[in-house]
Amino acid sequence: MSLLDDIEPMKQSALAELKAATDQAALEQAKGAWIGPHGKFTAFMKQLGSLPKEDRPAAGKLINSAKAELEAVLAAQRDQLELQAALPLEPTDFTLPGRRRPVGKLHPLTQVTDEIVRAFRKIGFAVADGPEIEDDYHCFDSLNTPADHPARDTQDTFYLAEATNGGPTGNAAGAGPARRAAGGGLLRTHTSSVQIRVMESQPPPVRIIAPGRVYRRDNADATHNPTFHQIEGLYVDKNVTASDLKGTVEFVFKELMGSDVQVRFRPHYFSYTEPSFEIDFSSALVKKMGKDWLELAGCGMVHPQVFENVGWDPEIWTGWAFGFGIERIAMIRFGITDIRLFYENDLRFLNQF
Ligand code: DAH
Repeated sequence: MSLLDDIEPMKQSALAELKAATDQAALEQAKGAWIGPHGKFTAFMKQLGSLPKEDRPAAGKLINSAKAELEAVLAAQRDQLELQAALPLEPTDFTLPGRRRPVGKLHPLTQVTDEIVRAFRKIGFAVADGPEIEDDYHCFDSLNTPADHPARDTQDTFYLAEATNGGPTGNAAGAGPARRAAGGGLLRTHTSSVQIRVMESQPPPVRIIAPGRVYRRDNADATHNPTFHQIEGLYVDKNVTASDLKGTVEFVFKELMGSDVQVRFRPHYFSYTEPSFEIDFSSALVKKMGKDWLELAGCGMVHPQVFENVGWDPEIWTGWAFGFGIERIAMIRFGITDIRLFYENDLRFLNQF
């Protein structure tokens, strides 16, 4: 009967070894040592054959129940170790502050644009929009700049091969009259095209500004970039005067640059305004840059022909328009000396604003 007496101690040793395993590898090893094909317990079962016939059923029963017990413990231990392996190594401290995503910020050009828009909204201007892919008519012809006009040379741009009708960006206020130069679209050289789109889409009076991206065939250097941003303004009503224009410009620049700002109008030429001016401005910031005056914008009284082009009677309607470069204003505001920094998306630069 020694064989039967051995079952219990052998089971106990096997159980002890299975329970002592601290990882899956140790558990698999213990399993192999005892209940695998070459395990001690398996070998033990094979010895059953040597027992006297009458003892075999009892021994078989004992061994089967021991084996079932070992397999159950093996499975339970496996689950337990699996669970442990899935737990974090360090205990979790639920009192720690959470991990936050860094909050982004608006690009400096967007910040300045928003400020300009805010200043104009205070005095009743609405924001208008137009397509960046324009046609000759809205960019030039309707603004009194026909194909042979010398002013076109200073605003050379990128022409597209396919004819476009407004384009994918911006919401074209209207397709415009059929009087359109042949050829495909072009990337607008200024936001002045939005003046025409707005006047085509609504009756007077009008009081809008139109911020947006513009394009020119320029080589990039510290003060030029082939893509830049402008903000256009248009005010049309009865009896609008140049002093309204100057008062508006002064108000907005004081909002943007501080109350020490001085504004000066210098006669200039633009084909869509008559008379036309360039706006210079001076302030402590400008003096800090070692200058007395900085040229900032073009403006003037809307040319009667432009009114004719949109079907408005120039004997009734008067107005003024202007266009500023947004980069220019941002550079003065923030003391930036190279325009290209705005487009490089270097976080070391952008994080400063
Ligand atoms: N479009 C001009 C430019 O890009 C700026 C400008 C000048 C806009 C006079 C105007 C204006 O509306 O009246 O240089």
